[in-house]
Amino acid sequence: MITNSVLDCIRARRSTRSFLDRPVEKRQLETLLDAAVWAPSGSNSQSWLFTAVTDKDVLLKINELVRQGFQTWTPDDDYPGKQMAKTMSQREDYNFYHRAPALIIASNRPNYENAMADCALALENVFLAAQSLGLGSCYVNQLHWLRGDDALRGYLSTLGIPKEHTICNSAAVGHIGTASAAPPRREGTVRIIK
Ligand SMILES: Cc1cc2nc3c(=O)[nH]c(=O)nc-3n(C[C@H](O)[C@H](O)[C@H](O)COP(=O)(O)O)c2cc1C
Repeated sequence: MITNSVLDCIRARRSTRSFLDRPVEKRQLETLLDAAVWAPSGSNSQSWLFTAVTDKDVLLKINELVRQGFQTWTPDDDYPGKQMAKTMSQREDYNFYHRAPALIIASNRPNYENAMADCALALENVFLAAQSLGLGSCYVNQLHWLRGDDALRGYLSTLGIPKEHTICNSAAVGHIGTASAAPPRREGTVRIIK
Protein backbone atom coordinates (compact mmCIF):
# COMPACT_ATOMS: atom_id res chain seq x y z
CA MET A 1 0.00 0.00 0.00
CA ILE A 2 1.28 3.49 -0.83
CA THR A 3 1.79 5.79 2.13
CA ASN A 4 2.18 9.53 2.43
CA SER A 5 1.10 12.09 5.01
CA VAL A 6 -2.44 12.43 3.63
CA LEU A 7 -2.99 8.68 3.46
CA ASP A 8 -1.51 8.26 6.94
CA CYS A 9 -3.98 10.87 8.19
CA ILE A 10 -6.91 9.09 6.53
CA ARG A 11 -5.92 5.75 8.08
CA ALA A 12 -5.19 7.15 11.54
CA ARG A 13 -8.43 9.16 11.97
CA ARG A 14 -10.81 7.64 14.50
CA SER A 15 -14.15 8.69 15.94
CA THR A 16 -13.29 10.15 19.32
CA ARG A 17 -15.90 9.88 22.07
CA SER A 18 -13.84 10.99 25.04
CA PHE A 19 -12.50 14.54 25.11
CA LEU A 20 -10.40 16.53 27.55
CA ASP A 21 -11.98 19.53 29.24
CA ARG A 22 -9.70 21.85 27.29
CA PRO A 23 -10.79 24.38 24.68
CA VAL A 24 -9.92 24.16 21.01
CA GLU A 25 -7.72 27.16 20.13
CA LYS A 26 -9.30 29.86 17.97
CA ARG A 27 -6.71 29.32 15.25
CA GLN A 28 -7.37 25.59 15.23
CA LEU A 29 -11.13 26.11 15.00
CA GLU A 30 -10.71 28.60 12.17
CA THR A 31 -8.50 26.08 10.37
CA LEU A 32 -11.16 23.37 10.71
CA LEU A 33 -13.83 25.69 9.33
CA ASP A 34 -11.56 26.64 6.47
CA ALA A 35 -11.05 22.94 5.69
CA ALA A 36 -14.85 22.54 5.60
CA VAL A 37 -15.40 25.21 2.96
CA TRP A 38 -12.72 23.72 0.68
CA ALA A 39 -14.83 20.59 0.19
CA PRO A 40 -16.43 19.97 -3.18
CA SER A 41 -20.12 20.84 -3.57
CA GLY A 42 -22.72 20.02 -6.20
CA SER A 43 -22.55 22.60 -9.01
CA ASN A 44 -20.20 24.50 -6.71
CA SER A 45 -23.26 25.47 -4.65
CA GLN A 46 -21.39 26.21 -1.42
CA SER A 47 -24.84 26.78 0.06
CA TRP A 48 -23.82 25.25 3.37
CA LEU A 49 -23.41 27.01 6.69
CA PHE A 50 -20.98 25.79 9.36
CA THR A 51 -21.76 27.06 12.84
CA ALA A 52 -19.12 26.34 15.47
CA VAL A 53 -20.38 26.39 19.05
CA THR A 54 -17.82 26.52 21.86
CA ASP A 55 -19.82 28.14 24.67
CA LYS A 56 -20.38 25.43 27.30
CA ASP A 57 -23.74 26.81 28.41
CA VAL A 58 -24.99 26.98 24.83
CA LEU A 59 -23.81 23.41 24.20
CA LEU A 60 -25.54 22.19 27.35
CA LYS A 61 -28.73 24.01 26.36
CA ILE A 62 -28.64 22.27 22.97
CA ASN A 63 -28.07 18.96 24.77
CA GLU A 64 -31.10 19.58 26.97
CA LEU A 65 -33.24 20.39 23.93
CA VAL A 66 -32.02 17.21 22.22
CA ARG A 67 -32.93 15.20 25.30
CA GLN A 68 -36.40 16.79 25.38
CA GLY A 69 -36.81 16.38 21.63
CA PHE A 70 -36.13 12.65 21.82
CA GLN A 71 -39.01 12.21 24.29
CA THR A 72 -41.60 12.89 21.59
CA TRP A 73 -39.57 11.74 18.60
CA THR A 74 -40.25 8.41 16.92
CA PRO A 75 -37.59 6.83 14.68
CA ASP A 76 -38.89 6.79 11.10
CA ASP A 77 -37.00 3.62 10.15
CA ASP A 78 -35.34 0.62 11.81
CA TYR A 79 -31.76 2.02 11.88
CA PRO A 80 -30.64 0.67 15.29
CA GLY A 81 -28.63 3.81 16.13
CA LYS A 82 -31.80 5.89 16.26
CA GLN A 83 -33.63 3.79 18.84
CA MET A 84 -30.41 3.46 20.84
CA ALA A 85 -29.92 7.25 20.84
CA LYS A 86 -33.52 7.78 21.99
CA THR A 87 -33.06 5.28 24.82
CA MET A 88 -29.66 6.73 25.81
CA SER A 89 -31.13 10.24 25.92
CA GLN A 90 -33.16 9.29 28.99
CA ARG A 91 -29.99 8.80 31.04
CA GLU A 92 -29.10 11.53 33.50
CA ASP A 93 -25.54 11.85 32.13
CA TYR A 94 -26.59 11.84 28.47
CA ASN A 95 -24.49 14.04 26.23
CA PHE A 96 -24.94 13.61 22.50
CA TYR A 97 -21.74 15.47 21.55
CA HIS A 98 -19.57 13.42 23.94
CA ARG A 99 -18.78 16.57 25.99
CA ALA A 100 -16.53 17.88 23.26
CA PRO A 101 -15.47 21.52 23.74
CA ALA A 102 -16.56 22.40 20.20
CA LEU A 103 -19.46 21.34 17.99
CA ILE A 104 -19.58 22.33 14.33
CA ILE A 105 -23.14 22.21 13.03
CA ALA A 106 -23.51 21.84 9.28
CA SER A 107 -26.74 23.08 7.72
CA ASN A 108 -27.76 23.71 4.16
CA ARG A 109 -30.49 25.35 2.15
CA PRO A 110 -33.79 23.48 1.91
CA ASN A 111 -34.93 21.43 -1.10
CA TYR A 112 -31.36 21.00 -2.35
CA GLU A 113 -30.72 17.43 -3.42
CA ASN A 114 -27.01 17.51 -2.57
CA ALA A 115 -27.40 19.17 0.83
CA MET A 116 -26.35 16.09 2.80
CA ALA A 117 -23.63 14.98 0.37
CA ASP A 118 -22.00 18.41 0.40
CA CYS A 119 -22.07 18.69 4.19
CA ALA A 120 -20.82 15.13 4.69
CA LEU A 121 -17.84 15.77 2.42
CA ALA A 122 -17.15 19.00 4.28
CA LEU A 123 -17.25 17.21 7.63
CA GLU A 124 -14.78 14.58 6.43
CA ASN A 125 -12.45 17.49 5.63
CA VAL A 126 -12.99 18.70 9.20
CA PHE A 127 -12.24 15.23 10.63
CA LEU A 128 -9.04 14.87 8.62
CA ALA A 129 -7.93 18.41 9.38
CA ALA A 130 -8.57 17.73 13.09
CA GLN A 131 -6.49 14.56 12.87
CA SER A 132 -3.66 16.50 11.22
CA LEU A 133 -3.74 19.00 14.11
CA GLY A 134 -3.64 16.27 16.74
CA LEU A 135 -7.30 16.77 17.65
CA GLY A 136 -10.06 14.19 17.93
CA SER A 137 -13.43 14.40 16.22
CA CYS A 138 -16.68 12.52 15.82
CA TYR A 139 -19.64 12.64 13.42
CA VAL A 140 -22.75 13.38 15.46
CA ASN A 141 -26.18 12.67 13.97
CA GLN A 142 -28.68 13.71 16.63
CA LEU A 143 -29.27 17.25 15.36
CA HIS A 144 -30.07 15.82 11.92
CA TRP A 145 -32.63 13.41 13.34
CA LEU A 146 -34.24 16.19 15.37
CA ARG A 147 -34.03 18.79 12.58
CA GLY A 148 -37.81 19.13 12.64
CA ASP A 149 -38.07 19.77 16.38
CA ASP A 150 -39.60 23.20 16.91
CA ALA A 151 -38.00 24.00 20.27
CA LEU A 152 -34.55 22.95 19.08
CA ARG A 153 -34.88 24.84 15.79
CA GLY A 154 -36.14 27.90 17.63
CA TYR A 155 -33.03 27.89 19.80
CA LEU A 156 -30.65 27.15 16.91
CA SER A 157 -32.15 30.09 15.03
CA THR A 158 -31.03 32.37 17.87
CA LEU A 159 -27.49 31.14 17.04
CA GLY A 160 -27.98 32.25 13.42
CA ILE A 161 -28.90 28.88 11.88
CA PRO A 162 -31.82 29.78 9.61
CA LYS A 163 -35.04 27.91 10.51
CA GLU A 164 -35.56 26.98 6.87
CA HIS A 165 -32.14 25.32 6.64
CA THR A 166 -31.96 21.57 6.93
CA ILE A 167 -29.54 20.39 9.62
CA CYS A 168 -27.35 17.82 7.87
CA ASN A 169 -24.87 16.69 10.50
CA SER A 170 -22.42 17.95 13.08
CA ALA A 171 -18.84 17.36 14.17
CA ALA A 172 -17.72 17.13 17.78
CA VAL A 173 -14.11 18.30 18.04
CA GLY A 174 -11.58 18.57 20.83
CA HIS A 175 -8.43 17.29 22.47
CA ILE A 176 -8.50 13.51 22.78
CA GLY A 177 -9.20 12.11 26.25
CA THR A 178 -9.25 8.39 25.57
CA ALA A 179 -8.27 7.31 22.07
CA SER A 180 -10.68 4.99 20.24
CA ALA A 181 -9.49 1.67 18.89
CA ALA A 182 -9.81 1.19 15.15
CA PRO A 183 -12.83 -0.96 14.32
CA PRO A 184 -11.56 -3.62 11.91
CA ARG A 185 -12.50 -2.94 8.30
CA ARG A 186 -14.93 -5.45 6.80
CA GLU A 187 -13.59 -7.76 4.17
CA GLY A 188 -15.05 -7.85 0.68
CA THR A 189 -16.29 -4.27 0.43
CA VAL A 190 -14.00 -3.20 -2.43
CA ARG A 191 -13.61 -4.63 -5.92
CA ILE A 192 -11.55 -3.85 -8.97
CA ILE A 193 -13.07 -4.91 -12.28
CA LYS A 194 -10.35 -5.47 -14.86
C1 LIG B 1 -23.39 8.98 8.88
C2 LIG B 1 -22.68 8.74 10.18
C3 LIG B 1 -23.34 8.95 11.38
C4 LIG B 1 -22.68 8.77 12.59
N1 LIG B 1 -23.32 9.11 13.75
C5 LIG B 1 -22.66 9.04 14.91
C6 LIG B 1 -23.26 9.52 16.10
O1 LIG B 1 -24.35 10.06 16.11
N2 LIG B 1 -22.55 9.40 17.26
C7 LIG B 1 -21.30 8.83 17.29
O2 LIG B 1 -20.72 8.75 18.36
N3 LIG B 1 -20.70 8.38 16.16
C8 LIG B 1 -21.34 8.49 14.98
N4 LIG B 1 -20.71 8.10 13.81
C9 LIG B 1 -19.35 7.52 13.85
C10 LIG B 1 -19.34 6.03 13.54
O3 LIG B 1 -19.89 5.32 14.60
C11 LIG B 1 -17.87 5.62 13.24
O4 LIG B 1 -17.43 6.28 12.08
C12 LIG B 1 -17.72 4.11 13.05
O5 LIG B 1 -18.00 3.42 14.24
C13 LIG B 1 -16.30 3.74 12.58
O6 LIG B 1 -15.31 4.21 13.49
P1 LIG B 1 -14.12 5.17 13.01
O7 LIG B 1 -14.78 6.48 12.57
O8 LIG B 1 -13.25 5.37 14.21
O9 LIG B 1 -13.43 4.51 11.87
C14 LIG B 1 -21.35 8.30 12.59
C15 LIG B 1 -20.68 8.09 11.38
C16 LIG B 1 -21.33 8.33 10.20
C17 LIG B 1 -20.57 8.16 8.90
